[in-house]
Amino acid sequence: MPRSTTVPAALAVLMGVLLVGVMADGPVAPERVPGAWREVEALPSPRLDGPVSLEAALLGRRSVRSFSDVPLTVEEIGQLLWAAQGVTDDAGHRTAPSAGAMYPLELDVVTADGFARYVPDGHRLAWRGDADLRASLSEVAQGQAAILEAPLVIVISGVPERTAARYGERAERYVAMEAGHAAQNALLESVSLGLGAVVVGAFDDEAVRRLLALADGEEPLYLVPIGHPR
Ligand SMILES: Cc1cc2nc3c(=O)[nH]c(=O)nc-3n(C[C@H](O)[C@H](O)[C@H](O)COP(=O)(O)O)c2cc1C
Repeated sequence: MPRSTTVPAALAVLMGVLLVGVMADGPVAPERVPGAWREVEALPSPRLDGPVSLEAALLGRRSVRSFSDVPLTVEEIGQLLWAAQGVTDDAGHRTAPSAGAMYPLELDVVTADGFARYVPDGHRLAWRGDADLRASLSEVAQGQAAILEAPLVIVISGVPERTAARYGERAERYVAMEAGHAAQNALLESVSLGLGAVVVGAFDDEAVRRLLALADGEEPLYLVPIGHPR
């Protein structure tokens, strides 16, 4: 979970360099990195053999908009992120298809403990802040209660420039398609975990961008509140 101590810039750079070295060798303990990235947390390895068949997950998926207070475990959060964008082979391919394997999606998680960016390479979370953004996120999504109640909201953003480098003006279309693939994977994984979820497309893009301090070119496309159905 995020901590709020400040690290002098030079030390932070040094720690970042050390951190990259540690990451190459496998799981890392929480560490500090320079800039906006404050702490990197290795997620537990995803489970590769769930108890629910794909057909049962398809049959059981229904939009759920009301959640209990029970928080999600780090295993559940990691499993959901892996389902959406996890790396599945040594070449770096992921659970969801991507036009030209350009991987233009970025996933942020919003929880009661703070907000973080999913780093598919190494299956990690880079914590970015310890504020609980769910109330503000709900506010800029037409006050939708699902976002306020859910212990986890996955924010799926796209970076069309990445795909445009190869596919030009078809990039917007491809990136939106890819957000759908990633979201559907997360929805089906939610069923497999006994959780409920809904995809939310109704929100103020600019306000979400500001709230999550998204970088230039990162376009929020989908919010996915997930939790234990109430
Ligand atoms: C592109 C898209 C945007 C959506 N946006 C919202 C939304 O903002 N709020 C919401 O409660 N549901 C939203 N939904 C969920 C739909 O309302 C839901 O899928 C539909 O009612 C069918 O129900 P089901 O998902 O249980 O099959 C969205 C679905 C899609 C595909």
